[in-house]
Amino acid sequence: MMNDYQNIALVGAGGKMGMRIGANLAASDYRVHYCETASAARERLAAEGREASDIHAVIGDCDLVILAVPDIALASVTEDLVPKMRSGATLLTLDPAAAYANLLHQREDIRYAVAHPCHPSVFLDRRTDEESADAFGGVAATQSVAAAFDDGSDAEKRVLEPVIRVMYGPVDTVHWVTVTQLAYLEPTLVETVTCMLGTFMKEALEETVERTGMPREAAEAMLYGHIQIALAVAFKSTNPFSDACMVAIDYGREAIIKDDWKKIFDQDELDKVIARMLKIEQVQRPASST
Ligand SMILES: NC(=O)c1ccc[n+]([C@@H]2O[C@H](COP(=O)([O-])OP(=O)(O)OC[C@H]3O[C@@H](n4cnc5c(N)ncnc54)[C@H](O)[C@@H]3O)[C@@H](O)[C@H]2O)c1
Repeated sequence: MMNDYQNIALVGAGGKMGMRIGANLAASDYRVHYCETASAARERLAAEGREASDIHAVIGDCDLVILAVPDIALASVTEDLVPKMRSGATLLTLDPAAAYANLLHQREDIRYAVAHPCHPSVFLDRRTDEESADAFGGVAATQSVAAAFDDGSDAEKRVLEPVIRVMYGPVDTVHWVTVTQLAYLEPTLVETVTCMLGTFMKEALEETVERTGMPREAAEAMLYGHIQIALAVAFKSTNPFSDACMVAIDYGREAIIKDDWKKIFDQDELDKVIARMLKIEQVQRPASST
């Protein structure tokens, strides 16, 4: 049985994810160093009673380094920090893009993992006001996590999983997938498709109100209820769509969706969107990452 992590560094501790994860880690028994470069972010940390450490002073003692810095900074941040990590330590990033694009500075004796929150399910049975208010997760509403530790053994995953559960808690399940599979989840499934459809529905709402002149409240009420019932019918088969609705769905697909839309699941397309997100010319992934 491997030991728990003794010392953890959270880098970017005053950013959006750093503040969320830091609040949960601070309430745990893990020994955590909160590291930040930006003065406004250090003030946010101080306001929550978390003292900022200098990463260069603590990194040699840490067996887990969590990088909550922007993805576009991960190449330079890992180039600086990975050579200073202790042998056998684990580097945890919060999004698969940089790992997938091979941008993380590599060392044979460093372990590389990624853990991304799923956010609380739209089908979650929320029973308290706190759960209802927790849209993002990590406070009161239970969520799952998708994580990758491609070269990690089962024993290493067993040691990392409790930290992930604290970071994003309350967590029901940590789903272990590969870095490439995680990249197909985010961006392809949940950003390219799902978040795009969220913004698309908002745009359709605006167009409805503008074209018809109806009260916004009427359009919002109709849309929000139908988002709920459309998801319930499509994903949970609570009841079938009506025959007329099926005709309108077919018309919508013909009018809106391109025939070849599933090309977004081709790996070359995944490479393109990740290169765009990371603001790099192209993804140089290892031949094995298919
Ligand atoms: N924001 C989200 O909703 C969300 C959700 C899931 C995963 N993520 C992932 O979390 C990570 C962080 O994203 P974020 O949205 O919290 O970013 P952010 O911009 O809010 O925060 C990043 C923090 O890192 C700090 N920082 C930058 N360079 C640094 C350095 N060299 N050393 C120390 N600190 C440094 C910045 O000062 C900032 O406080 C990214 O990998 C992102 O993909 C974000």
